[in-house]
Amino acid sequence: MTDISARKADHINLALQPRHQTGASAGFDRVRFEHNSLPQLDLAEVDCSAVFLNQYCSAPLIIGAMTGGCEHGEMINRHLVEAAEQCHIPMALGSQRAALESGLAQDLRRWAPNAILLGNLGGTQLQQQGVELAQRAVDSVQANAMIIHLNPLQELVQPGGDRDWRGVLEVIEQCCATLDVPVIIKEVGAGIGPGVAQRLMDVGVTWIEVAGRGGTNWASIENARVELTREQAIAAPFIDWGMSSADLIPVVRSQSSLLGVVASGGVRHGLDIARAMRIGANMTAIAQPFLQPALESTAAVIEKIEIFREQLRWAMFLTGSKNLKQLQSAPLVSA
Ligand SMILES: Cc1cc2nc3c(=O)[nH]c(=O)nc-3n(C[C@H](O)[C@H](O)[C@H](O)COP(=O)(O)O)c2cc1C
Repeated sequence: MTDISARKADHINLALQPRHQTGASAGFDRVRFEHNSLPQLDLAEVDCSAVFLNQYCSAPLIIGAMTGGCEHGEMINRHLVEAAEQCHIPMALGSQRAALESGLAQDLRRWAPNAILLGNLGGTQLQQQGVELAQRAVDSVQANAMIIHLNPLQELVQPGGDRDWRGVLEVIEQCCATLDVPVIIKEVGAGIGPGVAQRLMDVGVTWIEVAGRGGTNWASIENARVELTREQAIAAPFIDWGMSSADLIPVVRSQSSLLGVVASGGVRHGLDIARAMRIGANMTAIAQPFLQPALESTAAVIEKIEIFREQLRWAMFLTGSKNLKQLQSAPLVSA
């Protein structure tokens, strides 16, 4: 097993453990809809479909980026991508770094010829290897968009992680100018705040996935892999670092009505999807809750998607919202 694949296998095992979830701090619980006891709707007519990258999606839900590049990677990706295809839900790939470096084909299109697939690489990998790597990542899976993840906290806690972040914004700008697909910038759980969002928009980024605090805690996962007590002691105060997803979404949304905002980080069910959409998201992404079903089967992933979709439709029904546009102006009450 290579260092990268051993690390990815650790990530999967640790990400399944509840102690590495931040819990209620995503803040979605603070968003409370005014309950509508008189919906004047038939549940059957509630339509939660969305348009993302000019294509139909059955819900405003993306299967969030989770890594391949390890023993179970191909099986996980196959289950996720088949479910994405069958349910008309976009899927973000985990980092394509290992596959591109080892020359392994990522032939996901054989299972999902039509799904919306989002490529994925880290900002520091692109800073080190150049924009050509991003184009190779797009081409290798015929991606519909390219996600670049920014994870400076995770890299600090990870032994041997990238410490030199100079030039990352410049390579993002080059990607926006040269790739033939849209670029989406995401965090991994500490959140993209208004200052960074503005700098990203200034270089041409049109989609931001906030990936705030409140779900999977990458500092906690990486710290569990560290064997040196000195390194663990340095990281300890930063385990709770980051900005809550529900706080970030309205702030980032208010910066530009043209920006596409994907809410993520601690979105845990369809009611959270409804809440995130109400406070400014165009789409949402859920990662960790799909991990266990992805280890089981395509059918298990499909069932999870169907549950999330039905929960979203119930939230729409209980706010008298026939479609997402109506949900986005449904009245709220103070928590
Ligand atoms: C097992 C696992 C692997 C992940 N690998 C990646 C990755 O390769 N690239 C990336 O951008 N994000 C990765 N993430 C981060 C997620 O996409 C997401 O931003 C983060 O987990 C917060 O969302 P959640 O609370 O719904 O899990 C990974 C998450 C999990 C659980």
